[in-house]
Amino acid sequence: MSSLNQSFDFNTFGLAQPLASLEELKEERKKLPVTRNINEFWDAFSKSDILIVSSETGSGKTTQIPQFVAYMAQKMNIRGRIACTQPRRLAAVKVAERVAQEAGCELGAQVGFQIRDNYKTSPQTQLAYITDGLMVAQAFSDQNFYDYHTVIIDEAHEFNSNIYLLMSLVRRAVQARKNSQSQLKVIIMSATISVNKLVDYFKDHATTRQIKIPGQLHEINIRYLGEEWRIPSPESNSDGRVPKPNVSNFVEESCRVVAHIVRTGMPGNILVFMPGTIEVEMACELIRAKIRELNVIALYSALSESAQDAIFSSSQGRRQCIVSTNIAETSITIPDVVYVIDTGMEKVRRWMPRLGAFEICPRPTSKASANQRTGRCGRTQPGVCFRLYTEQDYMDILRDEPDFEIMRDEISSIYLKALAFGFETANLPFMDFPPVENLLSAQDLLLDLGYMNDQLQVTNAGKRAAQEPFDPNWVYAISMAKSDHPHLAEHIVAIATLCSSMHSIFASVPASLVPAALACRAEFTDPMSDLLTELNALYAFENEEPKLPNDGDLDRWCHFRFLNRLVMEKVLLQRNSAIERMGIRLDDTPHVNGQDRENIRKILARSFFRNVAFRTPSATGEVRYRTIHGNFETIAAQESILNTGGHPWVMYDALKWARSNLYMQKVTHIKPEWIMDLPFFQEDRMKKNYHGNIVQTRVKEALDKTRTTMGV
Ligand code: CDP
Ligand code: MG
Repeated sequence: MSSLNQSFDFNTFGLAQPLASLEELKEERKKLPVTRNINEFWDAFSKSDILIVSSETGSGKTTQIPQFVAYMAQKMNIRGRIACTQPRRLAAVKVAERVAQEAGCELGAQVGFQIRDNYKTSPQTQLAYITDGLMVAQAFSDQNFYDYHTVIIDEAHEFNSNIYLLMSLVRRAVQARKNSQSQLKVIIMSATISVNKLVDYFKDHATTRQIKIPGQLHEINIRYLGEEWRIPSPESNSDGRVPKPNVSNFVEESCRVVAHIVRTGMPGNILVFMPGTIEVEMACELIRAKIRELNVIALYSALSESAQDAIFSSSQGRRQCIVSTNIAETSITIPDVVYVIDTGMEKVRRWMPRLGAFEICPRPTSKASANQRTGRCGRTQPGVCFRLYTEQDYMDILRDEPDFEIMRDEISSIYLKALAFGFETANLPFMDFPPVENLLSAQDLLLDLGYMNDQLQVTNAGKRAAQEPFDPNWVYAISMAKSDHPHLAEHIVAIATLCSSMHSIFASVPASLVPAALACRAEFTDPMSDLLTELNALYAFENEEPKLPNDGDLDRWCHFRFLNRLVMEKVLLQRNSAIERMGIRLDDTPHVNGQDRENIRKILARSFFRNVAFRTPSATGEVRYRTIHGNFETIAAQESILNTGGHPWVMYDALKWARSNLYMQKVTHIKPEWIMDLPFFQEDRMKKNYHGNIVQTRVKEALDKTRTTMGV
């Protein structure tokens, strides 16, 4: 697109715009930092293939830039669409609604959205907001994005796996389309953190430019722990300073600061950053109990929809206190925040390749995140940020930049996708290179599943698996069901969806409430399997839904059973779309009989053969297990059926490292004879790959037993 000195009249698609409300919106839009700098933007965009735009959250990137590009493209008669990717489904829908409103068109006409189970676009659509996961999926049929003249990767600072893949795909596509009629333009948009490495990543491949749009931040007063704002407390040292809080007393610390603000501060909303969901709930409870005059709202991704509605719906003049995980850092804009309280902590998932386990660890955030959190209170007026750590800790303990998913999480899925897109193991195109041990553990899995061959090339089965919306091991389980027991495939898909969901359908409760929650869900228990127990709960909900048309009744039904309705609704949607995509038949009345249950357990065992453990004697009488794959000692998670059973052989969905123990999550009782014929369990294989006489002896014992029972 050539340089065209054109000022934006805010009429994106040249539609007739009679509404007065649009005029009001126009006035609002004119004031945004992005629109005030639109000529600089256009100048840089015209002169580059790839443009990196960074500015503070709320400055108009997501809503204005795609509209402006659409406006110019229309003027210049450029064919095709603009895609603007979003990490979260909800954000894609909400922003499309907003932009359609601003442009004065119906949602799905000129402006639309596409998320995995829901499309609202039409042949007229010129601008589509689309989840980054779906954009990656679309690339399997169109690697060079020929449907689009411009691809915008939004929220790039999140650097999730899909964003990494998209970056490598657009980098290649820009080159592929460079000298053709249909040039591809790319915009990468991010908050003001970590953009330098983006420039490095693209600069040798395409004409790359960067612009930083200045925000309109007001002055923010940052106060650290230990300064005079502290309220003297029983735990104070003699000099009046309070010892550094640890994770367990963040909740009380924050509550005290909130009380202090309410007592002595100016009016304005308060935003509190907690490390994780449990702390958010605990803090809300405490603040509600102690400070009556506040409207306290919990915000984390599992309930972002209802919480967002609560935040934006009128609070009847009451002051709001929003307690959030790091979701409020960049992805959700909260109005009129004057105070931020930052615990300086976040929770991340880390893959431990040697243990084959995950760890959810609370840890200090980065300086970049801390500054981003602080910036949440200076948007509309001067603000105050209370950091529950000392300035020294800020300097010494907080890393400069966050580390991203690809550097710490399990990577078999993104690795397989990269291979399926034609990138090679020796030449992976990622901006950061994952730790070698993580790469090796992913290779190990992909080799075992037959998705990769000994030359580390992707197989045909691997190419197909890469396109499915599940992790490789789940795709493997679903294909096994499809070939061995087609009528069970829908149940395996449902279980796969349950296990892939970021949030459990079982409401998260503090440890002390786990027994009560288990008792309330007893009706769903399958004594042989946690996975079947979850499936029972999901199907019970699905059966109950049409019987309880009253929203409140359905809410209560879920509440009494400690079930998370929003998560179940999402899981059902995802299951339906996966089933449709994979060409699987869905029964009208989901139901699993006894023989089916056994066969489902068998499919799980035979597909997750790497996740098998057997019971091992322990001196303390505690029920302990040993994993086949790594030969590690492990126990069942607190909420598992195993704690009432103690079956000799089990498979698990995942291992979690916590409190110096390995916990098996979502356990299913299996029979060793179901799996012993798999190559994985052959003696030579065991000897070659794995240490530990115990494992070999136990496998041998199981083999002998199988032979005896089968009369061989
Ligand atoms: O992408 P960025 O964070 O830079 O800003 P944006 O999402 O485009 O938002 C620009 C402005 O539009 C913000 O001030 C929001 O308050 C407003 N907005 C809104 O009112 N409703 C939405 N659904 C989205 C944005
Ligand atoms: Mg944005």
